[in-house]
Amino acid sequence: MNDLEQTAHELVAPGKGILAADESSGTIKKRFDSIGVESTEDTRRAYRDLLFTTGGAADYISGVILYDETIHQEALDGTPFPKMLEQQGIVPGIKVDLGAKELANTPGEKVTEGLDGLRERFADYVELGARFAKWRAVITIGDGIPSEYCLWTNAHALARYAALSQEAGLVPIVEPEVLMDGDHSIETSFDVTSRTLHAVFTELRDQRVHFEQMLLKPNMVLSGYDASGRAGIQEVAELTVRCFRRHVPAAVPGIVFLSGGQTDEDATAHLNAMNAMGPHPWELSFSYGRALQAPALKAWAGDASNVAAGQAAYLHRAKMNGLARSGSYSPDLETQVAA
Ligand code: 13P
Repeated sequence: MNDLEQTAHELVAPGKGILAADESSGTIKKRFDSIGVESTEDTRRAYRDLLFTTGGAADYISGVILYDETIHQEALDGTPFPKMLEQQGIVPGIKVDLGAKELANTPGEKVTEGLDGLRERFADYVELGARFAKWRAVITIGDGIPSEYCLWTNAHALARYAALSQEAGLVPIVEPEVLMDGDHSIETSFDVTSRTLHAVFTELRDQRVHFEQMLLKPNMVLSGYDASGRAGIQEVAELTVRCFRRHVPAAVPGIVFLSGGQTDEDATAHLNAMNAMGPHPWELSFSYGRALQAPALKAWAGDASNVAAGQAAYLHRAKMNGLARSGSYSPDLETQVAA
């Protein structure tokens, strides 16, 4: 196994998954607004410090995705954040896309930008200690969309990013996110996720990306959040696994799901149900942002005297998702462990 394959396997080690803490300045401001905290360089640093100094997190967290500002920052004790993570055996990664922008000639659809100068930016991130990267494409379900144009344009960009990432020696996390906003059925979600994965893996193959040296970060196959009669845990798990078995080569070491606005406990329960159906050709793990951080953010509320409470809340979610890696989670544990 070469270094990239080793890193990819390390990121999907048994019982562990990834913390996505790579919120852009705009997104973290939204999160801080929800708890009434002003978003400044110092408050963002204090919050990331809370997460990254949580004792015991490394038992469940294999890697952390950082944002450009954070990878340049130092923890409150003066240690650069990437170094602080490595010291705990947690692999530092970096979000390298520059966000999803309007896609020309197709109202309501987006394309992710950030390819220009990416080779040079990768070189800088390697210097700063990053060992893996992330690029997120956004696919919207709506009236007559997604178009094939949108799917293939985003897939092409994802593959260009992934090839450059591997060239730079970083494991690319390839993230095509089909949004679950709307009232669409789970069948529509299955269909759109299938079309998306078909385009993504065709482009990855055409652009000579090494499947053994990447991870896929997709949405789960869910009913739209506003749909009536939404599918339950078991149906979500079955349709999600069926969809990915059809489209993701077994050479890919792992699929690390995003939480995408699911409740914390749903995100855990869905992952658990899928792993209980295993074994699968790839590891099925998590790369959650909101579903790992929401209770911690609330408990912290910007107050230094709440750091321990915030860390306990984060550690609890990390542990629950760690258990879901082997199908060993049960909702009963939520109250037992928290007590
Ligand atoms: P969520 O788990 O909050 O969807 O975030 C994961 C992520 O990294 C989205 O790009």
